Amino acid sequence: MGFILAAMGSAVGLGNIWRFSYLCYKNGGGAFLIPYAIAMVVVGIPLMVLELGLGHKMRGSAPMSFAKVNRHWEWCGWWAVTCAMFGIMLYYSAVIAWCVNYVFFSINLSWGADTKAFFFQQFLQISDGPLQIGDIRAPILLSLMTVWGVCWMIVFFGVQKGLERANKIFMPLLFCLIAILVVWSLNLKGAMEGIRVYLSPDFSQLSRPQIWIDAFSQIFFSLSLAFGIMVTYASYLPRKADIVQDAVVISIGDCLFSVIAGFAVFGTLGYMAQALGKPVSEVVTQSIGLAFVTYPEAISNMPAFSKAFGVIFFSALVLAGLTSGISLVEAFSAAIIDKFHFSRKTVVSVVCLTGFLGSIIFTAKSGLFWVDILDHFITNYGLVIIGILECILVGWVLGARHLREHVNHAGGIVMTRFWDISVRVIAPAVLGILLFNSLHNEFRAPYEGYPWVSIILIGRDWVVGALIVALFMAMYPWKRALESEEGSGLHNKS
Ligand code: ALA
Repeated sequence: MGFILAAMGSAVGLGNIWRFSYLCYKNGGGAFLIPYAIAMVVVGIPLMVLELGLGHKMRGSAPMSFAKVNRHWEWCGWWAVTCAMFGIMLYYSAVIAWCVNYVFFSINLSWGADTKAFFFQQFLQISDGPLQIGDIRAPILLSLMTVWGVCWMIVFFGVQKGLERANKIFMPLLFCLIAILVVWSLNLKGAMEGIRVYLSPDFSQLSRPQIWIDAFSQIFFSLSLAFGIMVTYASYLPRKADIVQDAVVISIGDCLFSVIAGFAVFGTLGYMAQALGKPVSEVVTQSIGLAFVTYPEAISNMPAFSKAFGVIFFSALVLAGLTSGISLVEAFSAAIIDKFHFSRKTVVSVVCLTGFLGSIIFTAKSGLFWVDILDHFITNYGLVIIGILECILVGWVLGARHLREHVNHAGGIVMTRFWDISVRVIAPAVLGILLFNSLHNEFRAPYEGYPWVSIILIGRDWVVGALIVALFMAMYPWKRALESEEGSGLHNKS
């Protein structure tokens, strides 16, 4: 149970509420659910089984598990955990920090009538472009420090006393908060109109490659795949664990959470549209701003207890973000502990301090642009390429059948030969096509019209930089010779 909650905690995050809602709206409401469901079956569940199976079999963090399959592939494990920790976690912690600020803003609805001006001009004091970095915003920096402090404290105490215990408290609390929000918003006047927009598919959208790219990259992001997290978490499982069942529960649970949270978001938007006398399409922002611009406006328009609604909504975001954030820190820390045999407390302290310092750049006035560019590059390229590499490693180098036999040992739900074909051919081929399409779009026009130089420096170079770090880490010799695949990583013992 501790494992399921921790893995769900990692999967369920800002991605399920903040990212899923705006991607869903951007891609034709209900139409997005179709590629999303397909992505889950084609890539989500097979890769979840792959990552949990690999970590469970090799009993180590991602670099250790990859190295045990083949020493030449260790870098790929490092690339995954470096992208997760020094790519995603840096901007992710900044977005959690915004949510912390918004919990306090909710107490007296500080955003006023013009929520857009409040978010962009007053709160972020957004600069003119990604390279106009500007000053650091003190209120965001303060919350950022708190976010890193909490993550540090939890991971510092180890898997059982820290991560498991935190998830056992945070996850049930998060489920309660979301349940309150869903019931509350569905009972608001006009909510059904929002739900209609959410669930009525615009099938014409399905012919656009972008909807498929968004759905697949969202599956990676949301299920925490290709981050090295699931490999690490599974290494803590007892021998007899039922990997396939766990993988199915985590994947379906995470997707259901997104879809259910979507009811709260769109129900509230429906209410707001009705209150303002406008169609839903005119009140929704198709971007990162959905949670911070449109939602606060909806909260202000609530008939009663609007402040409480705001506090609950943003607290749910903070909780969801923290449970994922700690898993990102853990994946990287476990890798360092495995390789260099330093003590957990030292590693976690240094990693969190470095992470905090690195994420300060996202509290500058250009922070939102940096979040947007980095999120685009890491999810569309970093995670997808690592996903393809994982499929090649397990499908062809280790042998899919070999891992399938391992994950099927518990009986229960078993993977058939079709899983081998998925991992060896279908998943990498689909991901390869999407990658090609993303690259094609990239060269056609700069992402979101940002200047090329900022896209290259912030987006491409970040992904490439993580790769260079990964190659160096892999070149460094192991403190102790790698044990056989049955031996356990040192991080397991702490
Ligand atoms: N899986 C995490 C999320 O969805 C990173 O936010």
